[in-house]
Amino acid sequence: MGKDVIIACDFASAQDTFAFLDRFTSVKPFVKIGMELFYAEGPAIVREIKRRRHRIFLDLKLHDIPNTVQKAMTVLSKLDVDICNLHAAGTRRMMEAALAGLTRPDGTRPLLIAVTQLTSTDQESMENDLLIHEPIDQVVMHYAATAKAAGLDGVVCSPLEAGKVHEQLGADFITVTPGVRFADGDTGDQKRVTTPAKAKEIGSDYIVVGRPITAAADPVAAYERCVREFVG
Ligand code: C5P
Repeated sequence: MGKDVIIACDFASAQDTFAFLDRFTSVKPFVKIGMELFYAEGPAIVREIKRRRHRIFLDLKLHDIPNTVQKAMTVLSKLDVDICNLHAAGTRRMMEAALAGLTRPDGTRPLLIAVTQLTSTDQESMENDLLIHEPIDQVVMHYAATAKAAGLDGVVCSPLEAGKVHEQLGADFITVTPGVRFADGDTGDQKRVTTPAKAKEIGSDYIVVGRPITAAADPVAAYERCVREFVG
C-alpha cells in the first residue's frame, strides 16, 4: 500500500479551489473533494481536477437503500476518481450493491471505503440517539469487519484506530485517517489528533489533512512537511 497525504479541499467554490491548487507547480497532490465543493460545483469540478492530473478521493459518504446507492455509484464510476466512500451503517447489502454499481463494464473500479462511526459521534450520542449500547470501539471494529466482508477495500477511521484495524482485518485493508495536526499546530475542532509522524508509526495508509495545509501561510511548504513526516 503506497502511503500518501490527501489534501481535504474544503473550499466553497471552484475559484477558491483552483487558486489553491495553482500554487502547486511541481507536484500534483492527492485531493479530497467533499460534499460542500461537490454540491456547489457539481461533477464538473471533479472532471477539471482529474484533467489537471490529481488523484481524487470523492468523499460523498453515500447512505440510502441498496438500489439507489448502486445506481448512484454507477454514475460516480464514470467520473474516474480513485477513492469513493459510503456509510457502513447502510448495511452489508448496501455495501455489496455499491461495489457492484461502482464496478465498470471492464471490471475496473475506484477503491471503495466505509465510514464506520463518525468521529463526531461519541458513546453518549450513539446510545441516546442511535440506541446502540456496545462500546464505540467495538462498534467501529464491527462495522469495519462488515465492510471487509462486503468486499470493500478499507475504512475511514481515526489514526488512533488504524493499528487495530490492520491487526484485526489485515495489513492490506486500507485505513484513511483524518484528524492530523502538526505537533506545533492548532487542533481546531478536531478532538483526537495525531501528528503525521505518529500516524505513520501507527500504520495509516493515507492521511487526510485539511486546514493545517489549506490555512497555512505557505500551503506548499506545509504539504511538503506533511509528506516528509508521513511518507519519509
Ligand atoms: O481541516 P481538517 O484537517 O480538520 O480536515 C479534515 C477533513 O477530514 C475534513 O474534510 C473533514 O470533513 C474530514 N473528516 C474528519 N473526520 C472524519 C471524517 C472526515 O475530519 N471522521
